[in-house]
Amino acid sequence: MIVLGIESSCDETAAAVVRDGHEVLASVVASQVDIHHIYGGVVPELASRKHIEAIVPVVNGAIAQSGIPADRIDGVAVTQGPGLVGSLLVGFSFAKGFAYGHGIPWVGVDHLEAHLNSVFLAPDPPPFPFVALLVSGGHTSIYRATGHRKFHLLGQTRDDAAGEAYDKVAKMLGLGYPGGVVIDRLAAEGDPEKIRLPRPFLDKDRYDFSFSGIKTAVMRYIQTHPNTFKSDQAHIAAGFQAAVVDVLAYKIIHAAQENGCRHLAVVGGVAANQGLRTAVSRDAAKAGIDVHIPSLDLCGDNAAMVAAVGYHRLAAGERSTMADDVYSRVKF
Ligand code: KG4
Ligand code: ZN
Repeated sequence: MIVLGIESSCDETAAAVVRDGHEVLASVVASQVDIHHIYGGVVPELASRKHIEAIVPVVNGAIAQSGIPADRIDGVAVTQGPGLVGSLLVGFSFAKGFAYGHGIPWVGVDHLEAHLNSVFLAPDPPPFPFVALLVSGGHTSIYRATGHRKFHLLGQTRDDAAGEAYDKVAKMLGLGYPGGVVIDRLAAEGDPEKIRLPRPFLDKDRYDFSFSGIKTAVMRYIQTHPNTFKSDQAHIAAGFQAAVVDVLAYKIIHAAQENGCRHLAVVGGVAANQGLRTAVSRDAAKAGIDVHIPSLDLCGDNAAMVAAVGYHRLAAGERSTMADDVYSRVKF
């Protein structure tokens, strides 16, 4: 089954063509980072307008790249939520029109479920059951997965998402938006022990997170070192990254052990973090646990992961209807 995936929940317009839920024939992502960068964060109204401009060329680009004629596409999968309503509506309405025009079925897909399914696009997907850390700009959660669409929430952040903390710390240091990748790069040049920041483990046996304390500690350091913090930037980045990574790596490995899972997955934009990838792989190997992290292009928002979920839903006979609408808030 050939599925066209469409994603427009935030500031990326994406389309992909995927065969049988795992073989990516084409994946195109048009990022709006250059526009939102100026404002230090995503401006919803601008995002919607940019999606409107990008959606047709992005979908046409993905179909052309896949080598599959448009009339051979069997179904459409599109992100329904959570996300920015104006942005979601662009992809969602386009998908309705495309499916109607081609006379093929379509389904709305949850963005979190799509991130969680991104591991199945890799050559060595994890067997069930496994635990998954979903770590992005909007979410930081741990799930126990027992099926492609069966994710049981074990814990989540009580305040900021990890990616959000990265973006806010980057802003404090004047490094622009989005900040995750910049801090990741800078951290590699700094000493993680020079400026030691708190590790908010909360209850070590639970899977809840809190990142606002680390962020506040960085702000306090900047305020108390107004003349030197610029030259200490790499050490601040390294100290911040070490604190975040320590907590994330500890909790996901602990979750695997406590839930009797020999496999774990890390997905979402922050799964691209080099420090996190290295720490989780190293610590999990010591504990005899296999690690599954998607390639960098499948960590951030993309439409291949949307098509992967859509395949399972369409194959099970599920269909969305013209009366269905987008949603902004997290459902599970
Ligand atoms: O999954 P994603 O593209 O969008 C959401 O669903 O939120 O995640 C975006 C987040 C941003 O906060 C960005 O700063 C962060 O992922 N990010 C990173 C890295 N690359 C992206 N954070 C840390 N290290 C990275 N290398
Ligand atoms: Zn995302």
